[in-house]
Amino acid sequence: MSRIYGKTMKKRLTENMEPEMDTDDENVLERGLEFFLMKPELTGFLVTFCFFTVCWFIKDSLRLNDMHKKHVFITGCDSGFGNLLARQLDKKGVGVIAACLTEKGSQDLQACSSSTLKTVILNLTNPRSIDRAVEFVAAETGNKGLFGLVNNAGRATPIGPTDWLDMEDFHKVLDVNLIGLIDVTLKFLPLVKRARGRIVNVASVMGRLAFAGGGYCLSKCGVESFSDSLRRDMQHFGVKVSIIEPGFFKTGVTSLELIEKDLLRLWERLPPEVRCSYGDKYFDQYLKCQKLSMNTLCDGDISKVTRCMEHALTAKYPRTRYGAGWDAKLFWLPLSYAPAFVADILLKMLLPAPAASKKSVSGNQIAV
Ligand SMILES: NC(=O)c1ccc[n+]([C@@H]2O[C@H](COP(=O)([O-])OP(=O)(O)OC[C@H]3O[C@@H](n4cnc5c(N)ncnc54)[C@H](OP(=O)(O)O)[C@@H]3O)[C@@H](O)[C@H]2O)c1
Repeated sequence: MSRIYGKTMKKRLTENMEPEMDTDDENVLERGLEFFLMKPELTGFLVTFCFFTVCWFIKDSLRLNDMHKKHVFITGCDSGFGNLLARQLDKKGVGVIAACLTEKGSQDLQACSSSTLKTVILNLTNPRSIDRAVEFVAAETGNKGLFGLVNNAGRATPIGPTDWLDMEDFHKVLDVNLIGLIDVTLKFLPLVKRARGRIVNVASVMGRLAFAGGGYCLSKCGVESFSDSLRRDMQHFGVKVSIIEPGFFKTGVTSLELIEKDLLRLWERLPPEVRCSYGDKYFDQYLKCQKLSMNTLCDGDISKVTRCMEHALTAKYPRTRYGAGWDAKLFWLPLSYAPAFVADILLKMLLPAPAASKKSVSGNQIAV
């Protein structure tokens, strides 16, 4: 039936064709039309797919139009993503309250922003400091409540092979990136609920795929999990929760100077037995490989991340997750769905092998 209909259509098409259309064009058009008429399931699928894609883009592009009446509180505004987001939103007339760790960070930010932007000093590891920030924000926002809470502050070091680290190293990172973030969220939640607002939590691709020892991957994996349960609990109160998953970007967190300095501290304090299992050359090779991969991977355009944060705050329908950066979208996030052995092989190629992996371990004589 569809074959006969296809042939009739083909005839009609040929008869009504514009005289100036050349025969090659005619053939392509005819063949195309014939192909779709012969495969109604495929045509139906493509039409439905295009329809939903267009609907998704329209929905995704809708924005709130009263952002200038709302307040957004951002942590970690001394530098990096937080600093740029604060300036970006301030330029658009949003009432920004930027939390900085240092007085200098606060003054520098104020010097390059409008008088509407307010700053407050906040150390996430100090509960009293968080309480003071809550009091400040409550006074600034009054009955309206807080529309946006951006949990951005974080640190990466100490980071390195797991057996180079002790519990204190884990605490240093987890206390800021996870425990601090949870503390801030719980204390600000009543203000956000009052405004039926948004919470934007900055995780990382390293929260989806753990490829470095230390508290960083754990903390970001915890942020993912905390945000998922928070989103499900808060949906009843009109509060929306989004997660930002950036790839690698050039900021303080990825500063090779800081990471290398801290790795040297870890290497130098290693017990001789552990150091011997890695071998004398390991440390230099590790730094070389890390430098090469960081220099290749780190993107200098951090606005790719702040655009995602801004979308999560200002879109009518914010997304649940935002992968920021091409490395995140095309490599790390797809790799996180791959079987573990695929990720293991790829990640093994990025770093050098310890000396002990090439020879049998003395005593037990087990080849590692
Ligand atoms: N850059 C990347 O490639 C990347 C990738 C994935 C996720 N992230 C995440 O993105 C977020 C922002 O980092 P960034 O890349 O913009 O690096 P950044 O420039 O170092 O920003 C981190 C901010 O957090 C502040 N901070 C550190 N410890 C704090 C504490 N105890 N209390 C309050 N604030 C504290 C830092 O203050 P100081 O500057 O004064 O130290 C800084 O302003 C972090 O959560 C990070 O884990 C970054």
